[in-house]
Parts: sequence; C-alpha cells; structure tokens
Amino acid sequence: MQAIVCVSRNWGIGLDGRLLFHLSADLKRFRALTVGKTVILGSRTLATFPGGKPLPDRRSIVLTRGDAPVEGAETAHSVEEAAALAGDGAFVIGGASVYALLLPLCERVLVTKVDAQPEADSFFPNLDAHPDWRVERESEELEENGLRFRFVDYVRV
Ligand SMILES: NC(=O)c1ccc[n+]([C@@H]2O[C@H](COP(=O)([O-])OP(=O)(O)OC[C@H]3O[C@@H](n4cnc5c(N)ncnc54)[C@H](OP(=O)(O)O)[C@@H]3O)[C@@H](O)[C@H]2O)c1
Repeated sequence: MQAIVCVSRNWGIGLDGRLLFHLSADLKRFRALTVGKTVILGSRTLATFPGGKPLPDRRSIVLTRGDAPVEGAETAHSVEEAAALAGDGAFVIGGASVYALLLPLCERVLVTKVDAQPEADSFFPNLDAHPDWRVERESEELEENGLRFRFVDYVRV
C-alpha cells in the first residue's frame, strides 16, 4: 500500500475541507499513478470530489462509519476491512484521518512538497521528523503559478 499526498512546508494538507493547492502538474501525476488502481479515501474527501462522486477509472474504497452505500464505490467500516478489500497495490488518497489510520500499513509515501505555508487545519504526519521514513528519490524543483514544488518519494526504513 502507498499513500499519495500534497503537503505545504509544515505538512498541511487542507483547510475547511478543501485542498490547499491546485497544481495541474500534480493532478496529472496523481491521475497517471492512480488510474486503473484501487484508491482508499475517507467519506469527507469523497464529498469534495465533483458531484461527491468517486474518481472515474479507479476502484474506490470509501472509509465510513455509516451504512449507506456509495454509488460507484465499495465501503469499508474499519482499517482492517479497507486493507482486506484493497489487497496489494492500493493508494491511500486521504484525507487526514484516513492517512493517519493507514500510514502504518504503507511502505511508500509519494509526497508533493509545496514550498509555501498557507493556513491549514488538516495535516499529514511529518515524515522528515520520523525515523521510520527516509527519502528514496526527489525530483528537481518545479514551478507553477509562482508556487515551487517537488515530488519526494519516502520509503519505510
Ligand atoms: N493534500 C492532499 O493531498 C489531500 C488529499 C485528500 C484530502 N485532503 C484534505 O483532507 C481534508 C479532509 O480530511 P478529514 O480527516 O477531515 O476527512 P477524511 O479522512 O477524508 O474522511 C473522514 C471520514 O472517514 C471516515 N472514517 C474515519 N475514520 C474511520 C474509521 N476508523 N472507521 C470508519 N470510518 C472512518 C468517517 O466517515 P463518516 O463520517 O462517513 O463515518 C470520517 O468522517 C480536506 O481538507 C481535504 O481537502 C488533502
């Protein structure tokens, strides 16, 4: 299992239920990596997608404590159920609570690190401060709309 996330300088990932950044290069990479794969997400992140619907061309597993079915997705009510349903090769795509729950099961985290620090109320664990994680590879610095960012892959030590 891998997680994929876009973070600010202090590992912020969202504010008021929304993303902090919209970088087309990041969205393109996210799509290229996840299309045809299984993605695991929380019901709050699902609600932020267009029409509140699962992303097309991917198998979605939505973590929820609720009983209502989600059109176009499977639901899981615990980490164990999500992991069993997902099998190998799934991507954890957020949000904050689902990243925190599933990070212990991830062997790799694909981070888009943006060199900016807007206000945030949702965060990803700081992998640079965590002895279990090391940087495996790092892209050159890219820039879009005045925002500088890099793709940094972390692997579990
Ligand atoms: N920067 C990024 O890469 C990125 C990616 C994704 C999301 N985000 C941001 O993250 C924020 C949302 O994060 P969030 O933490 O508020 O929401 P979330 O993780 O997307 O979803 C939370 C929901 O997941 C379900 N859930 C959580 N723990 C569970 C458990 N143990 N068992 C069963 N269901 C469980 C619950 O659903 P029910 O309420 O249905 O029971 C809970 O309300 C937003 O700001 C979003 O934009 C950022």
